[in-house]
Amino acid sequence: MTAQIIDGKAFAAEIRAKVAENVSTLKSKYAVTPGLAVVIVGEDPASTIYVNSKIKQTVEVGMKSFHFALPDTISEADLVAKVKELNVDNRVNGILVQLPLPKHIKEAAVIEAIAPEKDVDGFHVINSGLLATGGKGMVPCTPLGCLLMLQDTLGDMSGKKAVVIGRSNIVGKPMAQLLLQENCTVTLAHSRTKDLASEVKQADIVVAAVGVSELVKGDWVKDGATVIDVGMNRIAAPERGEGKVRLTGDVAFDEVIEKAAYITPVPGGVGPMTIACLLRNTVTAACRQASIEEIEL
Ligand code: GUN
Repeated sequence: MTAQIIDGKAFAAEIRAKVAENVSTLKSKYAVTPGLAVVIVGEDPASTIYVNSKIKQTVEVGMKSFHFALPDTISEADLVAKVKELNVDNRVNGILVQLPLPKHIKEAAVIEAIAPEKDVDGFHVINSGLLATGGKGMVPCTPLGCLLMLQDTLGDMSGKKAVVIGRSNIVGKPMAQLLLQENCTVTLAHSRTKDLASEVKQADIVVAAVGVSELVKGDWVKDGATVIDVGMNRIAAPERGEGKVRLTGDVAFDEVIEKAAYITPVPGGVGPMTIACLLRNTVTAACRQASIEEIEL
């Protein structure tokens, strides 16, 4: 079997178009323009690229973008004070503090300072608690993007066996919760899992979010499985010239494509969905804050 490729780039474009349509309705019918504040601390090149992309796409869908580039010498107290200022700024519906933060700042302290209803990353403990208990919070963007692709591809997932590889707070744990809500039987595997290959072999759905280049091999995967690759690994590519890198996923794509029914590529799979879901979450946040119920996302 050769898998069908799930085109995350095209799907993300559809989500952005829907977001833009909703933003236009919010403006014309309710005089609400959703606003997203992005805070970056320091000048990490990868973070700067992500943040610039978030700002560009925010503006493209018609939302207001607020950008705060703060020096990496900022104290935790000053960063928390900035977040609290944004919490009470009515123009701002969503707040995103780009991670990682410099070592002298406790990420948890900053995340917990964000008003949960403006936490468009879905990282606040209130939002992770709501997700775990079936409540209506903000859902982290990357697992939300994976879920939307799975729903679109598979429809009803009831009773399917799902394996999530990686137990991060940002992807693995919320992904497992979302699949549980879809009535999957979920295994959350991690670096201490014994015989990962045999866990994966039993799964109808595999979500790899572990950060190990091409870990999931073709002979680990059940025939006809659906494989979602969250990995974004930059590995040395001397064949492309000195100092060059290439982007790989956590899945050995060339092998797994011969076994799976559906697979996401890297790049062009999960990556574009993350920012699209950030924009979607910002519209959700703006609607909830203005008690607008009729917008369908
Ligand atoms: N750094 C890498 N990905 C993310 C993300 O989704 N949100 C935030 N806040 N920081 C990140």
